[in-house]
Amino acid sequence: MKHIDIKKVLFDSDMVGTSVVVCGWVRTFRDSAQVSFLELSDGTSFEKLQVVIDKSALSVDPECTKLGASVVARGKVVKAYKGEGHELEAEAIAILGKCPPEYPIQKKRTTLEFLRGIPHLRLRTNTFQAVFRVRSVAAQAIHRYFHEHGYYYINAPLITASDCEGAGEMFRVTTHPWNAKYATEEEYCKNDFFGVKAGLSVSGQLEGEVAATALGKIYTFGPSFRAENSNTTRHLAEFWHIEPEIAFAELPDVIEIAEDLLKYLVRTVLEECAAEIKFFDSFVEKGLIEKLSHVAASDFAVCTYTEAIAILEKENANFHFPVHWGSDLQSEHEKYLTEQVFRRPVFVTDYPKEIKAFYMKQNPDGKTVAATDLLVPGIGEIIGGSEREADYDKLVAAMRERGMDTSAYRQYLDLRLFGSVPHGGFGLGFERFVMYCTGMENIRDVTLFPRASKTIL
Ligand code: 4AD
Ligand code: MG
Repeated sequence: MKHIDIKKVLFDSDMVGTSVVVCGWVRTFRDSAQVSFLELSDGTSFEKLQVVIDKSALSVDPECTKLGASVVARGKVVKAYKGEGHELEAEAIAILGKCPPEYPIQKKRTTLEFLRGIPHLRLRTNTFQAVFRVRSVAAQAIHRYFHEHGYYYINAPLITASDCEGAGEMFRVTTHPWNAKYATEEEYCKNDFFGVKAGLSVSGQLEGEVAATALGKIYTFGPSFRAENSNTTRHLAEFWHIEPEIAFAELPDVIEIAEDLLKYLVRTVLEECAAEIKFFDSFVEKGLIEKLSHVAASDFAVCTYTEAIAILEKENANFHFPVHWGSDLQSEHEKYLTEQVFRRPVFVTDYPKEIKAFYMKQNPDGKTVAATDLLVPGIGEIIGGSEREADYDKLVAAMRERGMDTSAYRQYLDLRLFGSVPHGGFGLGFERFVMYCTGMENIRDVTLFPRASKTIL
C-alpha cells in the first residue's frame, strides 16, 4: 500500500501543504461538536500523528475510532495547531482491521507485570515502543563502533561441545527420543546426532580467540544460552552477547576498550533516541538523562577485588551474604560498590582464581587472575572480561585443577602452542545494557519474548 511514514509527515517541513496517505493504529480518539481527533501511531516515531476530522465535511466509519483499530487515512499536512510538528486534515479514512473492546491495551496505565502476560501486544504501548527503538539503535551503534575501530564481525557457532565458562549451565542439544535407554552417558552421546555431548553455547569467546589470534581484532554479537536457575530480574536463559576479542591486548587495554565502547553507546542513545530517553526520564527512572550524560562524560573507577573486599567487609553486618577474601560478589555487594562507594561505573579487577573461569591469565601472586567485571548502578555486573592465559603449561594446569578434559579443548590449547600472544576481551550483556539506558528494572521488559526458567511465552 503506498503510504508515507508518520515520522516524515510529522517532522519533514517539505510535507506541509501536500496531500499524503498514512497508515497506523488508533492510539486515542476525542470527539467534540464540530471536529474529532484521531491519534495514529505506525511505529516510526515516538510522537503520534493527530488526524483532524471536520465532521461537517467527512463522516467516519465508527470502527475507525476504536482504540487499537488499524486505519488508512488520506489528508493534507498542516502545521500543528499546538506545539511542534504537523498534523493531518483528513479527507478520507478507511478501516484496515477492526479492534473490539476486549483489546487489552487500554488508555489507563497498565502494569508492566500485566503486559508481560501479553508479549505479543505490549509493543503497542509507548514504553515498549521506546524500549525497542533504543534496543535497535544500540545494536546498530555496536556494529558501527567496532567497524569504525577496525574489528571484524565474527559469527561463533551456537551449537558447541565445550562449556566456555565451565559453570555447568549448558542446555543440551539432542535428537534422542525421550525414552531412549543407554547404559552410560558416553554410549548415549555416541549414538546421538553429533556423536558427542553437545549443547548451546554460553559464550562465543573460545571461537572468538581463534579468530582474534589471526585477524587481530574481532567481535561477536549473538545469542548466548544459559540454564541458570536463578530467577532474577537480570538473568535470562537466552540473552544477546557482545564479545570483542583483541590480540596483543592486556588487562588495561581490555578495560580501556570496554569503557570507550560503553561511553560511545550511551552517547549514541542519548543523541539518536532523545524522545525515548526523555520519556524514560519522566516515567521510568527520574534523573536518567543526567545519569547517562554523566556516564558519557566522566571516567569510570577501577579497584581491585582485594580493595573491594576491604571496603565491603566494613559493611558485612548489613549484607544478606557477608563477604570475606575469596567469596564471590553477590548482586548486593556489586550494587553497594557502584551505587554507594564509587557512585559511577567501576571496574573491579584481579579476582581470586577459584571464583573465575579457567581461561583467565594467572597473576604472578599465584592467587588472582587478570579478570575484570564492570559494575554499574542499578544493575551490578554489565560486563565480564579478562586477559587470557597465553601460556600453554599454565593453562593446562588450570584446566587439570578444575578436573576438565583437556582433550576436548585441543584446538583452544593449540593457540598457545603456535605463536601464542597476549590477548583479551570481554562480554557485554546486551539486555543489561538496554536496561541501563532505559531504566527498565526487569530484563524481561527489554526482551521481545523472554526465555527464563519456567518461562517460554
Ligand atoms: O561474565 P560472563 O559470564 O562472561 C563471559 O561469558 C565471557 N566469556 C565474556 C568474555 O570475556 N568474552 O558474561 C558476560 C556478560 C555479563 O557481564 C552479563 O552482562 C551478561 O553477559 N550475562 C547475562 N545477561 C543476561 N542473562 C544471563 N543469564 C547472563 N549471563 C551473563
Ligand atoms: Mg560474569
